[in-house]
Amino acid sequence: MMTTTNLRPLADQAAKQAYAPYSRLHVGAALRSRNGSTYSGCNVENGSLSLGSCAERSAISAAVLAEGPEFRLDAIAISAFDRNGQPMQVPPCGACRQVLKEFGADAIVGFLGGDGSWTEVGVESLLPHGFVLPEDL
Ligand code: THU
Repeated sequence: MMTTTNLRPLADQAAKQAYAPYSRLHVGAALRSRNGSTYSGCNVENGSLSLGSCAERSAISAAVLAEGPEFRLDAIAISAFDRNGQPMQVPPCGACRQVLKEFGADAIVGFLGGDGSWTEVGVESLLPHGFVLPEDL
């Protein structure tokens, strides 16, 4: 059974690397690829605020760099901590949902849910009707 439980400590670790001086929300993501390898990412903000990048997409970039275009996503865990190191809920943002789905339509996504418990859901339930580029453009 595919799970994100063992990815969670890696996501926690990645969050410690975050560059988030503006929001002070430190986000980490750790994913497992279909071949069993793991990759991490953290959020990287910028003084030009809209240029910041999310932890999930940073992890996807690391995976593609390592495995190339054949990379497929099996599972990803996301962690976030506030300025005091308190765990925060962070369901993936809409843009990240679109990117996760591109690499794993059946992937499992784990995050701290609104009720404070670790939540695991399929990408499809996070982003039904995601955008797909038409082939006949
Ligand atoms: N953030 C992520 O890294 N992932 C998400 O899914 C949501 C938001 C980051 C972006 C920004 O640096 C900070 O959290 C506050 O929005």
